Amino acid sequence: MILVTGGAGYIGSHACVELLNAGKQVVVLDNFSNSSRTSLERIRQICRKPLAVVEGDIRDQAVIEKTLREFGCTAVVHFAGLKSVFESVSSPLDYYDNNVIGTHRLLRAMQGCGIKRIIFSSSATVYGDPKFLPYTEDHPLGPVNPYGQTKFFVEQMLRDLFVSDRSWSIGILRYFNPIGAHESGLIGEDPKGVPNNLLPFVAQVAVGRRERLNIFGNDYDTPDGTGVRDYIHVVDLAQGHVAALASLDKPACFAVNLGTGRGYSVLEVVKAFEKASGRPVPYDLRPRRAGDVATCYAGTDLATKVLGGWRATKDLETMCRDHWRWQSQNPNGYDA
Ligand code: NAD
Ligand code: UD1
Repeated sequence: MILVTGGAGYIGSHACVELLNAGKQVVVLDNFSNSSRTSLERIRQICRKPLAVVEGDIRDQAVIEKTLREFGCTAVVHFAGLKSVFESVSSPLDYYDNNVIGTHRLLRAMQGCGIKRIIFSSSATVYGDPKFLPYTEDHPLGPVNPYGQTKFFVEQMLRDLFVSDRSWSIGILRYFNPIGAHESGLIGEDPKGVPNNLLPFVAQVAVGRRERLNIFGNDYDTPDGTGVRDYIHVVDLAQGHVAALASLDKPACFAVNLGTGRGYSVLEVVKAFEKASGRPVPYDLRPRRAGDVATCYAGTDLATKVLGGWRATKDLETMCRDHWRWQSQNPNGYDA
């Protein structure tokens, strides 16, 4: 049995589907602070398999220990956390509390139960400003906002834990820019309020929920002047977790990138989305957004080596098509 924290969220729900498809049993622990219970119903609908659910908070050590014991868990896939860069600047203590203290309590609970296998959702944001590209895993770490700091601190906590007890199996996965949705259109990203990230915003313009996209910066040193990112299909990303779990059948502590290794500009994404949806995405060119880099993409060789040959296979067209299917079937998200 695998404990998936934050399994009702965007990436966690897709990971549950892939874990269930791979024959694993799954129990989700989520406090639903940024998700809907409906996503769990949809997972059951897609997989036609049971999925156990515990409503609880990762900062509650007793609940985690009870869950780990009651369900006989052997590993944890840890998605739960807060993820808005902007919110983390105005509410840093909430971010350190949820992400760092929460993970500390989770690890304590695991230690208390003798469960020493964990996959952690880290982010490319731990690298900070690029000293060179692509970002390979040996790129210096230097997060530039509180959200990134929380990921960096948790990574460090995990590395220190491994040094103290080398019987742990720890996989740190640094995600680049997950987009898209399950091909059924039943689960997908359902941000609360105004989306910060590009794809959910573009999709909401295409579906008519918002009038126009703001493109932040067209004077970057990139082919068309707009920012370039490494977008990865969320199903590829989810399958990376199944591969990571298999690689953690022995003690280890690794950190690998989950990306495709190639970047697309904002304008390329907008065009691809217009094509996939058949809808216009009108936009305005705006000044750069504070904290953004021009270009960001992953070195992928280490992940492929460590994760037994895993690599992302879905292209931008597929990402946009699947994202659009989810958005058009659920124009107002899960609880409309
Ligand atoms: P999400 O907000 O959709 O999912 C997070 C889930 O965790 C939600 O269901 C939320 O209710 C739950 N949660 C939050 N705090 C909790 C707590 N204290 N106890 C229990 N449950 C809690 O986010 P996501 O996009 O699925 O991201 C999952 C993880 O991946 C996060 O840790 C995020 O930082 C990381 N990540 C995401 C991205 C991205 O672009 N989406 C990129 C890099 C890393
Ligand atoms: C953001 C986060 C990063 C996080 C990542 C994945 C910031 C500063 N960084 O990165 O920490 O790891 O998401 O969750 O928030 N864009 C627009 N208009 C929009 C939205 C975005 O033009 O309305 C542009 C951005 O300037 C950027 C690109 O689209 O060039 C992608 O933006 P976004 O989806 O927010 O991802 P990141 O900036 O890579």
